[in-house]
Amino acid sequence: MSVRSMEQKDKKVLCIGLVCLDIISVVDKYPEEDTDNRCVSQRWQRGGNASNSCTVLSLLGTSCAFMGSLCAGPVASFIVDDFSQHAIDISAVAWQVKGQTPSACCVVCPASGSRTVVLSDTNVPDVTAEDFSKVDLSHFKWIHWEGRNVDEQLKMIQQVARHNAALPLQQQITISVEIEKPREPLYELFAYGDVVFVSKDVARHLGFQTPQTALEGLRCRVKVGAVVICAWAEKGADALAPDGLLVHSDAFPPERLVDTLGAGDTFNAAVIHKLSNGARLEEALTFGCRVAGGKCGFHGYGGIADMVTGQE
Ligand code: ADP
Ligand code: FRU
Repeated sequence: MSVRSMEQKDKKVLCIGLVCLDIISVVDKYPEEDTDNRCVSQRWQRGGNASNSCTVLSLLGTSCAFMGSLCAGPVASFIVDDFSQHAIDISAVAWQVKGQTPSACCVVCPASGSRTVVLSDTNVPDVTAEDFSKVDLSHFKWIHWEGRNVDEQLKMIQQVARHNAALPLQQQITISVEIEKPREPLYELFAYGDVVFVSKDVARHLGFQTPQTALEGLRCRVKVGAVVICAWAEKGADALAPDGLLVHSDAFPPERLVDTLGAGDTFNAAVIHKLSNGARLEEALTFGCRVAGGKCGFHGYGGIADMVTGQE
């Protein structure tokens, strides 16, 4: 089939952002500073928001691609193997000649539900607009940016806007952005997403105490007709619909909290999965909370495929 005749439903979702190695220690009690402890278990896992969201998209049955930076070596080999096991297309990865593949020490504490992350990602360049200009946009129906190197990301979004301008509405690429870290430069992204995911950390940093007040307050920062989505852990998630109405979903807490690492990435992926397949916002929001809540009940992401079988 030629790419020209590719239908929207056969196109992929592309997620752009971080991939890293997560070295995850599961502990029964969060350790005190300057003590020497034994963990309950430890594992390596491919991590990074955009990379985790690809894992979940793929497990949900949405074909997807990842774009981010890797540096050749044993850590990258582990990561590439795992991408391949999850059938995630990495042909757009920017292989960097300088630096190290990012890695994170993660402490997961089921007793409290906490996940504590110490990430090292500063000695490798992020993907640039020039890298992005080599991507064949006709393969994608949706592109998601995890807010990082905003100046370059804005140029990438402009490229998509130019691509879209030449196409009828139903063939255009939907643009989503995630503003997760409370860092001022990232807030520029608000104005550029068709769908904007904003974290409770950012909402709080901007002075909002609830998802509803955050959405009301952030309305002026997004473009007309955009959807804004704010997940709030055990309170579920809220969204501002294109018509300005607020939508809410309660959380779906698991029987027992096990692993909250990547709950937000899971939520984003489940929402994108639904919206990119034509679902209504309410349905997507509820599905996002159901999948993310379920994910908190097991380690990693492997249980997601089983969890959603027969539920969609
Ligand atoms: P992050 O992982 O980015 O901190 P959140 O904590 O906001 O993300 O969680 C994202 C989604 O995951 C929430 O909207 C909720 O649906 C689900 N979730 C997270 N923590 C819990 C929890 N303790 N109980 C139930 N659902 C949760
Ligand atoms: C989870 C995660 C981890 C990674 C960290 C980076 O959301 O993407 O996989 O170590 O956050 O901030």
